[in-house]
Amino acid sequence: MNVGKPQETGSRIKHEDMKLTDAGRFYALLRFEEASLALRAVLRMGLVDQLRDRSLSRDELRDELGFTVQAARTFFALLQVMQILEIRDGRYCVTTHADHCLATGTPTSRKPYLSMGTGDDVDALLDLLKGTNPEKAIPLYSGENAGETIMDDAPVAREIALGLSSRARNFADPLAEAVAGHASNAKTLADIGAGSPYVAQACLRALPNLDQAILVDRANGMRFAHEIIRNEQMDSSRLEFHEGDFFDAVPTADIYLLSNTAHDWRPPEYSTIADNIRNSMPDDGLICIHEPILMTSWNDDTEWIRALWMACYALTLLRFTLGEGTCYSIEEHDEILSKSGFVSTGPPVSTADGCTALFFRKKN
Ligand SMILES: C[S@@+](CC[C@H](N)C(=O)[O-])C[C@H]1O[C@@H](n2cnc3c(N)ncnc32)[C@H](O)[C@@H]1O
Repeated sequence: MNVGKPQETGSRIKHEDMKLTDAGRFYALLRFEEASLALRAVLRMGLVDQLRDRSLSRDELRDELGFTVQAARTFFALLQVMQILEIRDGRYCVTTHADHCLATGTPTSRKPYLSMGTGDDVDALLDLLKGTNPEKAIPLYSGENAGETIMDDAPVAREIALGLSSRARNFADPLAEAVAGHASNAKTLADIGAGSPYVAQACLRALPNLDQAILVDRANGMRFAHEIIRNEQMDSSRLEFHEGDFFDAVPTADIYLLSNTAHDWRPPEYSTIADNIRNSMPDDGLICIHEPILMTSWNDDTEWIRALWMACYALTLLRFTLGEGTCYSIEEHDEILSKSGFVSTGPPVSTADGCTALFFRKKN
């Protein structure tokens, strides 16, 4: 397993030896289209011209552009990693390099070249950043009584669920190994927003004392976990299936997994899920947040590529979830979970395919 070592400065995760089984670079290639979209949006908005010689706080810049909070969090982080924006004395400024290359009308500007072919996709992104969704847009996920979602359209939901499960199947063992390192005595585990049975099955193999793993999902997601179990003729005798809304309540367990699910929601909804978990867990319980982690600083080119991939991924999530979801930094996870009464326990552990496991226990 590739274990992330926390560092004193810069980003807190070091990623040196990518395993051959890790599909990270393919995900990164898929996601880099967001960097192209964001660059073209910057040129369309004339952002470099607008900000030249100025510095703005995050809220001032957000107000000036008319972006939602979640859009500003996501887009500004991506522009930092793309080295178009930088933070000086806590305020956003255009980098000298972007000023040199992306302004209008200067001899060194390549804006006329770089903005060729910009089209409807940029208009759609700018609408999303301002909180305007296309008419009749249907959310990907929602709570039980919050109306129709894409997951209610069985063929599309199947493609999404099986697509996600192909990733989960491959990070399941490194994730289970990380969980075993923190919760070797756990008897019960709940995988919240499980999607597939792979992680629960891997934890049943890796945790010596685990008697039972509970899959928690809405009925429109759980049906694909059952389909995988049937098709692969898995032994499901130690699995339990809890169909329900994680915004209402979650079952009791010693260790909770929330994998690739926090990023589908804004901080208030993420907090509701975390509150429900805290209210159900024993005092010595643990929660493992397993997520792509946003990072806006890096120590070398390898880390910069990862930071770019994660920031692009954040924009993909924002688009998929109609402006609700994004990637959060470790500091943001710490802050959101702290409000729900959790404190970090142990360093981040890099698993596979761009995901990192963070462990939290109840505050005393
Ligand atoms: C992005 S998937 C993550 C799946 C899996 N944990 C992984 O790591 O690949 C989010 C999961 O949360 C489930 N979900 C979404 N809203 C939910 C809700 N309100 N209550 C319970 N599960 C929900 C979805 O059906 C889906 O399986």
